[in-house]
Amino acid sequence: MANPSILILPGDGIGPEVMAEVTKIISWFGDKRGLVFDVSEDLVGGAAYDVHGVPLADETMAKAQAADAVLLGAVGGPKYDVLDFSVKPERGLLRLRKEMDLFANLRPAQCFDALADFSSLKKDVVAGLDIMIVRELTSGVYFGEPRGIFNEGNERVGINTQRYTESEIVRVARAAFELAKRRNNKVCSMEKANVMESGILWREVVQKVHDEEYPEVELSHMYADNGAMQLVRWPKQFDVIVTDNLFGDILSDCAAMLTGSLGMLPSASLGAPMANGRPKAMYEPVHGSAPDIAGQGKANPIACILSFAMALRYSFDQGDEATRLEQAIEKVLADGVRTADLMGPDGGTPVSTSEMGDKIIAALDASL
Ligand code: IPM
Ligand code: MG
Repeated sequence: MANPSILILPGDGIGPEVMAEVTKIISWFGDKRGLVFDVSEDLVGGAAYDVHGVPLADETMAKAQAADAVLLGAVGGPKYDVLDFSVKPERGLLRLRKEMDLFANLRPAQCFDALADFSSLKKDVVAGLDIMIVRELTSGVYFGEPRGIFNEGNERVGINTQRYTESEIVRVARAAFELAKRRNNKVCSMEKANVMESGILWREVVQKVHDEEYPEVELSHMYADNGAMQLVRWPKQFDVIVTDNLFGDILSDCAAMLTGSLGMLPSASLGAPMANGRPKAMYEPVHGSAPDIAGQGKANPIACILSFAMALRYSFDQGDEATRLEQAIEKVLADGVRTADLMGPDGGTPVSTSEMGDKIIAALDASL
């Protein structure tokens, strides 16, 4: 049987340098664990625009559709701010999400013990935090029609449309309940049913999926603004949060910062199962391209490496190996190894991006 395939799209800014560390880790699993992947690489974002004049070439899109998993670094940078909206780096990412139909975006916010002091919140509020935001990723106001800037009388009007079908809500709700069953059995659904019809439908449909298919999971509903407040007040009340595309974008940034380290958070975007039973999937760090530190060896590769751990778990059915990798990272952090973004006020000497990768590999070796 052919080896499972991974398409790597490093993208822009710090994307290539954090992805270089992931490549080392992938090779380690091939050499030491017999998990051999067919890895290929291509361009996305500004890097693709520079070569093809578009942020995602059709050939790259086709490769992504055929891959067992896609790993993406980051897209965007100031150089591309002047580009027309239709060819901005972000459009490449949105095209991948939409055309691969990656409707369930899993964004864990986990606080590593060694980093509990890094949060802007009190340590006891975040220590041991482990929540999962499931963000709907292929619909809602990001994609709804009509959209655009139109003339109306003697002024312009900007329009975007929040739109959800029942089936779009059903499938992301199922994804959230399935995850909750393997975690702490609790789902909180967030919308604005007090002001939005799409929110009323969202709440109804999530409740129906619960009652008919997952009555054993504890379900609650919250308005998204209250949800934001509760996330900051006492985040440990949550297990799985399921929400729409835009609220999920905002709430997941908020949740990410609770952990004190945006450079630590991975994500998985999952679609329907392919013929081989694996879900269509793309994995990416939650952080962006950080153009201000790109190319200096300062970036933290952990979010991107943890994204590969999610790939091991969700695409390749290698939960134990994913845990091995996550524990290697915890070990390295507990040993005080830090990239520049993780330096406390007391200083110390940060390791470089590639030194962090090497330390994680050493910890993986020690795990054997
Ligand atoms: C994210 C990002 C993207 C989004 C941007 C880069 C298009 O903020 O993945 O959260 O808004 O979805
Ligand atoms: Mg975002």
